[in-house]
Amino acid sequence: MCGIVGYVGEREALPILMDGLARLEYRGYDSAGVALLGSDGRLRVAKQEGKLARLRAQLDARAEPPSGPTGLGHTRWATHGPPTTINAHPHHDEDGRLVLVHNGIIENYAPLREALRARGHRFDTETDTEVLVHLIEEAWYGRVATTAGADGTTDRTTDGDATSVTADRGLRGPAGSPIGADGPSRFAAAVRAALRQVEGAYALVVMSEDLPGTLVAARHFSPLVLGLGEGEQLVASDIPALLSHTRRVLLLEDGDVALVERAGVTVTDLAGQPQAREALTVTWDAAAAEKGGYAHFVRKEIDEQPGALADTLRGRLDGDRIHLPELAALDLDAIRRICVVACGTSLYAGMLARLMLERWARLPVEVAIASELRYGDPVLGPESLVILVSQSGETADTLAAQRLARAKGAPTLAVTNSVGSSITRAADATLYLQVGPEIGVVATKTFTGQLAVLTLLAAELGRRRGHFDAARVADLARDLRALPEAMTLAIAGEPAIRAAAEALADRRSMFFIGRGFNHPVALEAALKLKEISYIHAEGYPAGELKHGPIAMLDPSIPVFAFATPAPTYDKLVSNLEEVRARGAELVVVAGAGDTDIARLAERVLYVPVLREELEPFVNATVAQLFAYHAAVALGRDVDQPRNLAKSVTVE
Ligand code: F6R
Repeated sequence: MCGIVGYVGEREALPILMDGLARLEYRGYDSAGVALLGSDGRLRVAKQEGKLARLRAQLDARAEPPSGPTGLGHTRWATHGPPTTINAHPHHDEDGRLVLVHNGIIENYAPLREALRARGHRFDTETDTEVLVHLIEEAWYGRVATTAGADGTTDRTTDGDATSVTADRGLRGPAGSPIGADGPSRFAAAVRAALRQVEGAYALVVMSEDLPGTLVAARHFSPLVLGLGEGEQLVASDIPALLSHTRRVLLLEDGDVALVERAGVTVTDLAGQPQAREALTVTWDAAAAEKGGYAHFVRKEIDEQPGALADTLRGRLDGDRIHLPELAALDLDAIRRICVVACGTSLYAGMLARLMLERWARLPVEVAIASELRYGDPVLGPESLVILVSQSGETADTLAAQRLARAKGAPTLAVTNSVGSSITRAADATLYLQVGPEIGVVATKTFTGQLAVLTLLAAELGRRRGHFDAARVADLARDLRALPEAMTLAIAGEPAIRAAAEALADRRSMFFIGRGFNHPVALEAALKLKEISYIHAEGYPAGELKHGPIAMLDPSIPVFAFATPAPTYDKLVSNLEEVRARGAELVVVAGAGDTDIARLAERVLYVPVLREELEPFVNATVAQLFAYHAAVALGRDVDQPRNLAKSVTVE
């Protein structure tokens, strides 16, 4: 997790860093910090626990906020050490002459820290990150630092819960030697030497007080992108943080170390061998990631779904044919089984994919939780297609499962929204969602985008395998084209959904139930409610209630049922009778015109009638709106719920 930014150029770096961090706050927001190297040769750090707004307030209150044309910044999602100011990044060496920001986990930090302590280093924080700055310090200065060097003073002040560190020194290079023209490349070599001792995941940016206009950035399993400008360069965890300044980006690969200077960037591997990396031009707009008059990104992104769906389908429904040229990179004739791997909401999209793949392509499909699969011993091989579903393309568990699948010789297909993300680079083929950036931390339009791509994939595999003939493809294509309008109608039901959410927001727990295609929808609905309202919720296949959970039911626990038309509709109605008999309050999502169901339910939320496989698009939209309004009624932080982050780049 965590967001990183860096800048070198001629402009004042602080506003650029703060703007970049604001665009990365979805990656973590429990503390934030910046470090700037002023034109006076002084390095200044400001950091603050809490959201970025608190750091901004601290900076605004300072008579002399840090300034300068070289800097880096960080917004944190804590892994090692609580989210306090002292544990906030940037971290610095003993003298405050080196500062570093990091995203990821250093797995061997404990033995490294003990060894560094034995060599005289002092640690101020409980983070795994701090070992990095001390390792670089040793490699750069060629000695163990002391708390006050011979040629200057270090001044640390603590101001309430805000810490600032400044060091006042003359220019000095490794082992006290003057900095020469080769200083930046020697600094990059020192960073490489330090990183060769490290195990785990990192994206990092480091700067030295000795080298104005120089940053070193490195990546291994955590995302990092360079933004290329004229006389200025930027570094960030994600592209939106760069777009106000440049559209030319360079995606670092695992093991890359980049020397970033005003005039340009140089990329090597950890051994120092030059690496050729192509710059890309980003065509989408930063404005697409703005709130556009909505109170919350989540609400805006729910509304964007019909348009986003049309974007996902664009160019892929070619007349009555499905057009997925990306699949040409896979030997689909060799596939005998499929394993869908994902986490959270993406896992539920994967469960729905399974139902369609089995029904249409007649292939055996298993759905695996990435964090479990990665430590299991799954039976995978060249005949198993592993489909990795991840909106961010950076989920650490899903990436690890992908490495395992590849090691076993299985071809991998990524389904993601993030162009150039880690998952795409390791995949044999990628299907993009094409739904535009999703800023709200909880998944909404990326979920329906995943469903759309997986629906096309299942139908196309069915066609190739001879189980889904041209007439069925044509029917599906017609229904998919009509789907954006059906979703608009589902969203138009918002007043009734909102009334239900506001009436039930004071309950301590809720059940969400459904059968068949509505089972994963029930799981997703429960997750959405938990994530943004913090109301406890359970999702269940309706037929399972009687095997235990029904004991929980009483009039205080509402049951939310998805009862849209399906072969199991009558069975579901029997389950609703059972619920009713326990006195639980029922909210039912039903197909338009199903007036009978009203006899069982306190509230009925009607949606357009669709073919069973497409019902999850509208039913999940109702669930999103329900969770959204419950969260708003409770005054929750809808866009950035507590303890969550948009891309989960740690285990
Ligand atoms: C829920 C949510 C998470 C993600 C999960 C996987 O709203 O967003 O459950 O679905 O963390 O993330 P990705 O899809 O980026 O791999």
